[in-house]
Amino acid sequence: MNILITGAGSGIGKAAALRLARRAHICVADINGEAARSTANEIRAAGGNASPFQCDVTQGAAVKDLVEKSEAIAPLDGLFNNAGISIRNRVENIAAAEWDLMLNTHARGMFLVAQNTLRKMVARKRGVIVQTSSDFAVIGVPVMAAYCAAKTAIYSLTKALAVEFGPHGIRVNAIGPGPIDTPILKQNRSDEEYRQTVTLNETRSPMGRLGRPEEVAVVVDFLLSDRSAYINGQLVQPNGGSVIW
Ligand code: NAI
Repeated sequence: MNILITGAGSGIGKAAALRLARRAHICVADINGEAARSTANEIRAAGGNASPFQCDVTQGAAVKDLVEKSEAIAPLDGLFNNAGISIRNRVENIAAAEWDLMLNTHARGMFLVAQNTLRKMVARKRGVIVQTSSDFAVIGVPVMAAYCAAKTAIYSLTKALAVEFGPHGIRVNAIGPGPIDTPILKQNRSDEEYRQTVTLNETRSPMGRLGRPEEVAVVVDFLLSDRSAYINGQLVQPNGGSVIW
């Protein structure tokens, strides 16, 4: 069993890599090569098998190379298409480059990784993909316009892929986690702003707390397994009930 995970150097991707390594070889991909190596080393130290790859998912040639090298280890049974960033900004201040980085990382990046992987899976008529969208795919959130647009694109891409590739024996689902306590919550926030965000999310959540990456990893593991054989094209939301729609 071979599974490719992007953004596996940190947070949700790393937690999924550590969990899935109990039953698969993990291709650990991240733009941060050192972080990818660190996750792979943790997997090996726990008795699993992993190969680290430095890859920026927005770069077409790099993604093709990543998928080719992963397939050379063993045919990919699963893909967790997860790498992402967070940018918070009021709409009037969003620079075109900022918008492009957000959409490129999420929509273009996940499309490229899925496209290259699907070409291989289609030939074998089997495979399963999980893509990280967000709660924010289905609600509006202030100062998160670019992120909301990017995550809705992922949800939409997921539905289109599920319909196009279901007949080829391939399932594609999205997860809509949040709020999960990972380093992304600290991106573009001061320590004080991070603490305020944590308190706000704790107050809003019916469960009174943020989620842990491991609580998302268990959902990814389920969706990448045969136990979810009849779940296709869905947005599954491990979010503690913080967004219900
Ligand atoms: P994180 O910051 O801990 O991990 C994201 C990883 O993606 C990092 O290791 C980073 O280096 C990597 N990455 C960023 N740009 C990349 C690129 N161009 N190519 C390859 N790798 C790249 O954050 P977290 O929370 O684990 O995020 C994972 C996914 O979950 C993201 O797509 C994020 O948008 C999504 N998400 C997170 C939520 C949360 O509350 N933490 C809620 C909903 C969605």
